Amino acid sequence: RQAELTELLKERIRDIPDYPKPGILFKDITPLLADQATFGMAVSALAARYQASGARAGDADQGAVTVDKVVGIEARGFILAAPVAYRLGAGFVPVRKKGKLPYHTHETTYDLEYGTATLEVHQDAFTPGDRVLIVDDVLATGGTVRATIDLVERAEAQVVGIAILLELAFLQGRDRFSGHDLHVLLTV
Ligand code: PRP
Repeated sequence: RQAELTELLKERIRDIPDYPKPGILFKDITPLLADQATFGMAVSALAARYQASGARAGDADQGAVTVDKVVGIEARGFILAAPVAYRLGAGFVPVRKKGKLPYHTHETTYDLEYGTATLEVHQDAFTPGDRVLIVDDVLATGGTVRATIDLVERAEAQVVGIAILLELAFLQGRDRFSGHDLHVLLTV
């Protein structure tokens, strides 16, 4: 079943050369999202590891809810994180690009290849001690997820997992999360 999902994902993630700029090979997940079976399997696979009935051996509270909040990262992360939250019976928290959230926020700025980016989350989005799952579509350099972890931890909540649809291994983003439970559906 894992092999079947891997094949479906590979077939439905489209390479777009020179987008958004020359030399970049963009991974377009819209064909995957548009396919009912693949989208459903991807959401289930992202959630499965954190489902209460699937609590891992050694978990003190097997059978209990394992995730309180699922964080989605603007914009493509929202598409996957919201159904994962629904599946887990957890709340959904958006992490957004600067200037999009209306209430008081925490923000964090991180380096991009050229320049910087700033992400924000509402200050009251988490309760201290919340068990948080971060979901995003692509792990590239890892800067976005690293910044998101910082925002969660600033609220004294706990990142219990990172679930990613597609990992671009050559950028070695994974190395930044050695202490975390990182679960990836497809690595290229
Ligand atoms: C993409 C992707 C991840 C991030 C990964 O988002 O959805 O969030 O980049 O890159 P990193 O690991 O190098 O930080 P993008 O900023 O393109 O935003 P979008 O989802 O709004 O298109």
